[in-house]
Amino acid sequence: MVDASYKPYGLEPIETASRDEIAALQVQRLKWSLQHAYGNVEAYRKKFDAAGVKPSDFRSLADLAAFPFTTKHDLRDNYPFGMFAVPMDMIARIHASSGTTGKPTVVGYTKKDIDTWSHLMARSIRASGGRPGMKVHVSYGYGLFTGGLGAHYGAETLGCTVIPVSGGMTERQVQLIRDFKPDIIMVTPSYMLAILDEFRAQGIDPRTSSLQIGIFGAEPWTNSMRAEIEEAFDMDAVDIYGLSEVMGPGVANECVETKDGLHIWEDHFYPEIIDPESGQVLPDGERGELVFTSLSKEAMPVIRYRTRDLTRLLPGTARSHRRMEKVTGRSDDMMIVRGVNVFPTQIEELLLRCEGLAPHYQIELLREERLDIMRLMVEVRPERAAGQERTQEAERLTGLIRNTIGIGAVVIVGEPGAVERSAGKARRIVDKRPKE
Ligand code: DLL
Repeated sequence: MVDASYKPYGLEPIETASRDEIAALQVQRLKWSLQHAYGNVEAYRKKFDAAGVKPSDFRSLADLAAFPFTTKHDLRDNYPFGMFAVPMDMIARIHASSGTTGKPTVVGYTKKDIDTWSHLMARSIRASGGRPGMKVHVSYGYGLFTGGLGAHYGAETLGCTVIPVSGGMTERQVQLIRDFKPDIIMVTPSYMLAILDEFRAQGIDPRTSSLQIGIFGAEPWTNSMRAEIEEAFDMDAVDIYGLSEVMGPGVANECVETKDGLHIWEDHFYPEIIDPESGQVLPDGERGELVFTSLSKEAMPVIRYRTRDLTRLLPGTARSHRRMEKVTGRSDDMMIVRGVNVFPTQIEELLLRCEGLAPHYQIELLREERLDIMRLMVEVRPERAAGQERTQEAERLTGLIRNTIGIGAVVIVGEPGAVERSAGKARRIVDKRPKE
């Protein structure tokens, strides 16, 4: 684990540039990006025209608020390649995110976009404490998902040795970690817990593993989960954020020396926070929906893309780039249970206070006699499986949820392994309520 003597390594000048320098670069790049989108993507041209704005109306950062938002619908409506701003023979790679319904969201990259992405992923791994020469075990899925290949190219660019394992086959993950002795693991936090269980199932103390750094993202996770993983593995656990539409992983990353939220790489992405209802831009520090405009993307520029992720912007600390607070959740993941808004991360926070319970969980939403019911599936910790504490633990968690969030939940404490596992993003909510 890093201590007070930690010094960041190999900082690029832009990471510590003044706010004025960063803003000047953003204005210059935004002018290019707006013109590039308007000039080369029909969907943007139509939207700008309908809103009565032209790229030349943009002169300072505040002017961006006049431009229309882009949403997932725009990408779907122009499936598969309609949002591309360059001819097809300049597209070096395609990724896609599956989404829950229908067509996937397709994104494209030029060779230069791949270089920028690799560069920003290398910067993210370095911010996490990574160095050239370290071995990186990548358990993010390889394929259309951006996690595996994004991590892979970034680690290579930094000068690391990449071990491209992808997700799944948990026993083998543990075997490879033991035999190859990686310094860094890149994986979703929920799958890291499955790997942790496997270490213990094989009777190996995870603290004796070679892993020093975990770079976890692709789904929301709490600081309590960070503490759980850091303690279990004796490693630094750092948050990485990104989304396919904007690039993939590496849009923002925490610095290992502060772990106080994720620095957004503002030389390539311009963030805004908006009120999700009114669309008004909110001042830094206020919570709302995160919106991004790409500053350098060639193949698929995004203008004011609504992420649906909820967070707030904070001033820079370890770097001069602004931070985003750990994402509480997506607006799509907000459950309304008997009129109370609840996010899975709030449940995670409370679950991790119950020592007898494992950190795995899944929430089922049911409806009985017109009332919503939240059923929370959790597990007893393996070392406590023989004990009689399950009822007490269930009562404890029910009480915490009632007193903190203000709703009644039905907590079911299963055997170790009872909660569904995923090799990638965990499915936290299963909505079994009848469709209206
Ligand atoms: O999940 C990219 C990624 C891969 C990020 C690996 C980090 C590590 P998508 O599949 O397009 O891309 O999903 C993007 O995942 O809008 C958030 O809702 C969520 N998400 C990603 N990172 C975080 C994070 C990848 N650190 C969506 N915390 C985003 C919370 C995250 N949510």
